[in-house]
Amino acid sequence: MEGLKLIPVLLPISQWRQRPCLLPRLVCGGALRHDGAVKILVAITGASGALYAQRLLDNLNPHEHQIHVVLSNYAQQVVATELPGGLRLPEGVKPYGLKSMNVPFASGSNPPDAMVIIPCTMGTMGRIAHGYSEDVLQRAADVVLKEKRKLILVPRETPLNLIHVKNMELLLLAGATLIPANPSFYAGASTIVELVDTVVARVLDHIGLPNQLAPRWAEEQD
Ligand SMILES: Cc1cc2nc3c(=O)[nH]c(=O)nc-3n(C[C@H](O)[C@H](O)[C@H](O)COP(=O)(O)O)c2cc1C
Repeated sequence: MEGLKLIPVLLPISQWRQRPCLLPRLVCGGALRHDGAVKILVAITGASGALYAQRLLDNLNPHEHQIHVVLSNYAQQVVATELPGGLRLPEGVKPYGLKSMNVPFASGSNPPDAMVIIPCTMGTMGRIAHGYSEDVLQRAADVVLKEKRKLILVPRETPLNLIHVKNMELLLLAGATLIPANPSFYAGASTIVELVDTVVARVLDHIGLPNQLAPRWAEEQD
């Protein structure tokens, strides 16, 4: 975590624009804790789009769920380039380094219910697709797949080559969910954050966290 600026912030509860998780067992396929909390690992890699990770963190409630964060080495470089002021970690979110496997998500005996790699580089995607488990991030993804929990990748690259596409195919066959960092425009987003949120909303949907982060198609507005 050297050189990375992590700013703990506590957002007022009114800013958590999500309702409680209603279906964690159904959607995450994981062990439902008595209080309905789910364990979510947010992994950030060195693809462009650090704002996607920031907005996901801004919309996960660490007072309701266990939120863990891990960054690849290159993520730190991209965060420094793309997020003025650095990555803001809401209070209660736990950051981990890449090296030590002594973390609460590197073993099948204690996997997260959901892991989101956001944004996800082609490099990390390829290493996961081929079973590398050289660091905590890759190992956690391997664990999540083998334990049949929810692995969501938000890949960012353009254009794609055949290797990227084949790796995506492998990951889909292994049970991962791919939510490309492709914003939608039909809801009339007028800011970058609103565009980014059209992707983050889909990520929250697939974790199983009901949210109103972005307008939905053909939804009645209040
Ligand atoms: C500013 C910047 C933007 C980058 N954007 C992307 C990207 O969108 N997609 C990608 O696959 N790699 C991107 N890269 C390259 C990756 O950071 C590089 O391949 C790195 O080795 C990935 O390591 P990681 O997967 O461990 O994070 C970018 C690099 C920099 C410095």
